[in-house]
Amino acid sequence: MFRVFLLYSFVSCLNGQENVRIDHVLKETFDCKFKSNKTVGLTVSVVRSDKVLFVGGYGFVDIEKKTTPVTGDTLFQVASLSKAFASVLLTKLIEEKTNYTLDTRLKKILHGKEIFYDSLRSNYVTLRDLLSHKTGIPKHNEMRFDTDLTRKNLVDRLKYLKPEGVFRGSYMYNSLMYGVVTHLAEIIGKDTWENLVHKHIFEPLEMNTSTFVTTAELEKILLAKGYVEYYGELHPVQYNFTRQVLL
Ligand SMILES: *[C@@H]1O[C@H](CO)[C@@H](O)[C@H](O)[C@H]1NC(C)=O
Ligand SMILES: *[C@@H]1O[C@H](CO)[C@@H](O)[C@H](O)[C@H]1NC(C)=O
Ligand SMILES: *[C@@H]1O[C@H](CO)[C@@H](O)[C@H](O)[C@H]1NC(C)=O
Ligand SMILES: *[C@@H]1O[C@H](CO)[C@@H](O)[C@H](O)[C@H]1NC(C)=O
Repeated sequence: MFRVFLLYSFVSCLNGQENVRIDHVLKETFDCKFKSNKTVGLTVSVVRSDKVLFVGGYGFVDIEKKTTPVTGDTLFQVASLSKAFASVLLTKLIEEKTNYTLDTRLKKILHGKEIFYDSLRSNYVTLRDLLSHKTGIPKHNEMRFDTDLTRKNLVDRLKYLKPEGVFRGSYMYNSLMYGVVTHLAEIIGKDTWENLVHKHIFEPLEMNTSTFVTTAELEKILLAKGYVEYYGELHPVQYNFTRQVLL
């Protein structure tokens, strides 16, 4: 929070000198964190309207080797930030290609198919419910370790997931529902999720180096290594593992 506030107060009048100040504050904050071994690398950009006002990189791509510094060009795995792309893409596609709205029921989009554990959800869950984590179905994340899970067959497995919350009356964060969102985007956009995000988001925004863990060739991209904190220590996560779990 502290850092965010500092940035906002600087951004209102950025010039060369302010850039130096931002860089200084970030370096100090980062060095402080880095001493605790909990921060591997960080890229910061400040963008206003169409202008990039500041880009800075801190720390290393690989905390064990500490050879390659992070720069503005380093790629990071964004994990659940992908949800922002999923929701933007789906909303754009339904607007451009269908007469659906966020309140259209899944059952309609899936031509009558009932996909949930109970008929209440099978009949009434809408796109808005998926996007806002309102199905009342808990995470069930263990399912994601199944190497045979795909965006498509996920939809056939949801009926085994027991709800625990009140439909629309409780907030239950559920990443699997975003798997459904990506599947629906593929149905409506008639292409793969990766191609659709490229076409509808990366290309218009000129996010030319952004890519997907599912399709990228690791040797050809500048990717920061991923870590997981376990009993206070950071451990590297194998790229093939991330890739497998996300496919
Ligand atoms: C951080 O890691 C280095 C070795 O990579 C070690 O020497 C140092 O003691 C660690 N610091 C903390 C606070 O754990
Ligand atoms: C949307 O509704 C209009 C008017 O009913 C219809 O002409 C059009 O074909 C529909 N579009 C799609 C994609 O279903
Ligand atoms: C992205 O790629 C397009 C097409 O090659 C190019 O016109 C554009 O300048 C690039 N933008 C950036 C920010 O690199
Ligand atoms: C990933 O690669 C490592 C090293 O090559 C290997 O030991 C491990 O079994 C692989 N993991 C998966 C999930 O494929």
